[in-house]
Amino acid sequence: IRVAVIVVAAGSGERLGQGQPKAQAALGSEPLLVHALRGVLAAHVAEFLCVVVPRGDVELRAVCARIDPSIRTVDGGSTRSDSVSNALAVLPANIDAVLVHDAARPLTPEEVFHRVRNALEAGAQAVIPALAVVDTIKTAQPSTEREIAPEQVHTTPQRDVLRAVQTPQGFDLATLRAAHEAASMFNDAQAAAITDDAMLVESQGVPVYIVRGSELSLKITTPIDLLIAEAMLEGPAA
Ligand code: CTP
Ligand code: MG
Repeated sequence: IRVAVIVVAAGSGERLGQGQPKAQAALGSEPLLVHALRGVLAAHVAEFLCVVVPRGDVELRAVCARIDPSIRTVDGGSTRSDSVSNALAVLPANIDAVLVHDAARPLTPEEVFHRVRNALEAGAQAVIPALAVVDTIKTAQPSTEREIAPEQVHTTPQRDVLRAVQTPQGFDLATLRAAHEAASMFNDAQAAAITDDAMLVESQGVPVYIVRGSELSLKITTPIDLLIAEAMLEGPAA
């Protein structure tokens, strides 16, 4: 199969709080996006590589050109899902499948790309890497606030059925396009509630297959994640 990789790097990085797009934040001596792109290129899975950057951004475009001049860049949208849609619109005609990867996961090992790609090759329409959840998870009132108020627990899902999901998420291209098309009818609240591509595909009734993710594939969200990633760059913890 012919695979395109879409790296989404158009977020603002509000929770990291550096006043710049998160993909520009330094990890060691290079921006997060450089690490993420090196990982994608090392995995040798991409026939076509598209990076979604913040609208009007020049720095991240320059980063892409420096890493590989054949990388296509496109402007992002206001949600992650819009950013993915913008990339889906520019893929070449000969592509069969797509891997959508977060620039915010700079240390994803090659093996994870391979597991996702291999599952697609074996016929899966949708594949996501995941890990077992280590925390006990509670549900409460919906909240978009970072600081949660004192509040009441609703329920405790059984931990053994929970999985923490990572990227790259892999899809048959027609399947992902159809799911994004259906989502284009969503109202703002529905659109804001989409946190990954697999959700869209699930809502179309498509089975989503899970492969093993990696603890090395952490997502940089807040400053402590960057500290952990710096320590990981220094060398293996165990
Ligand atoms: N992303 C994107 N376009 C958006 C929002 C997010 O391409 N409109 C990308 C981010 O660049 C990131 C990935 O989606 O690689 C996961 O998003 P997240 O971790 O939430 O990153 P940010 O949106 O940048 O961070 P924050 O929510 O703290 O602002
Ligand atoms: Mg975000």
